[in-house]
Amino acid sequence: MTTTDSNHVLNFSAGPAILPVSVLEQARESILELDGTGIGILEHSHRGPAFTKVIDDARNACRTVGNIPDDFEILFLQGGASSMFALIPMNLLGEGRAADYIHTGTWTGKAIKDAGLIGDARTIWDGSTCEFRHLPEDAELRHSDDPVYTYYCSNNTIYGTMWPAPPASKGVLVNDASSEMFSRPIDWERHDLVYAGAQKNLGPAGVALVIIRKDLLERSRRDLPSMFRFDRHAEQGSCLNTPPTFGIHVMGLVFNWILEQGGLVAMQEQNLSKAATLYESIDGSGGFYTGHARQDCRSTMNVTFTCPTPDLDSLFLAEAEDAGMRNLKGHRSIGGLRASIYNAFPAEGCRRLASFMDEFAARNG
Ligand SMILES: Cc1ncc(COP(=O)(O)O)c(C=O)c1O
Repeated sequence: MTTTDSNHVLNFSAGPAILPVSVLEQARESILELDGTGIGILEHSHRGPAFTKVIDDARNACRTVGNIPDDFEILFLQGGASSMFALIPMNLLGEGRAADYIHTGTWTGKAIKDAGLIGDARTIWDGSTCEFRHLPEDAELRHSDDPVYTYYCSNNTIYGTMWPAPPASKGVLVNDASSEMFSRPIDWERHDLVYAGAQKNLGPAGVALVIIRKDLLERSRRDLPSMFRFDRHAEQGSCLNTPPTFGIHVMGLVFNWILEQGGLVAMQEQNLSKAATLYESIDGSGGFYTGHARQDCRSTMNVTFTCPTPDLDSLFLAEAEDAGMRNLKGHRSIGGLRASIYNAFPAEGCRRLASFMDEFAARNG
């Protein structure tokens, strides 16, 4: 039984989250033996030829799948996405300069707090006043005069909002894409640094993918310890110290799986269609379900909603659990329900949840 077998357990976890079965099977094989080398991936030296091939292949597949231009560097770092809350301002925010942050949820809140320890981090739009139900129009952003960067989070995992297109930026544009990386094409004309923790769409927890324009590396601060310097990681091909070898291997497998699915355009089509299945059940429930996110900024990755009462939310969770649908509880900060349906989540699983929702609403409405 696997979490992706539509007859059995469906894993709606927000992260770590579901991965493609074929990737898990390949990962299992490579733990015992990597590519006929007689040694498993967990036991290979990170300086040896077998792992060098793994990381080169992963980097190349990442560039291909993401359509990433040559003037961007691809880094595989450690410390998850949260490390970037500090590393980005440490590397980019020079003495006496400001950075503009668009505050759209818990994760931007944490990023703003950490950046404030390092420099002048300004909140140029604050979504807490609308319970993070929607995202701003460009005209609402109160940019600083000369910020080094504008920072946003393209998919707000907890609240279930997603930017349909990047915001207007002043300075360079930085995006925390942790919960939607490679769920749709990325506009590299508009972005200068995009990063993601791996544990949703890309692979095992612990690795962070950082894609950074090379001229930013040249401009980044030199007076930092090596492990905190993006330019040092780039010079050493993400092998400045022992990298998370297994995580990088699995990410490479996931990139190739996305390519097999038809790449990011195909992925986006599938994700839109899967999400629409659930939003139709919310909108068609005659007011039984309430979606948290405003309709124009709904996420294709994290579908957030509530039943008419907290007691019904609890009953929904208990009955869903009995029906093999796991991890539908909303984040503790907003409660309610959340279905996380990342790239690897099957369309059939969304249909199963939608039928369950329709039936539950009919019985309890
Ligand atoms: C949008 C976003 N950013 C950052 C993080 C933090 O990730 P990590 O636990 O890898 O530090 C998360 C985790 O869920 C997230 O959803």
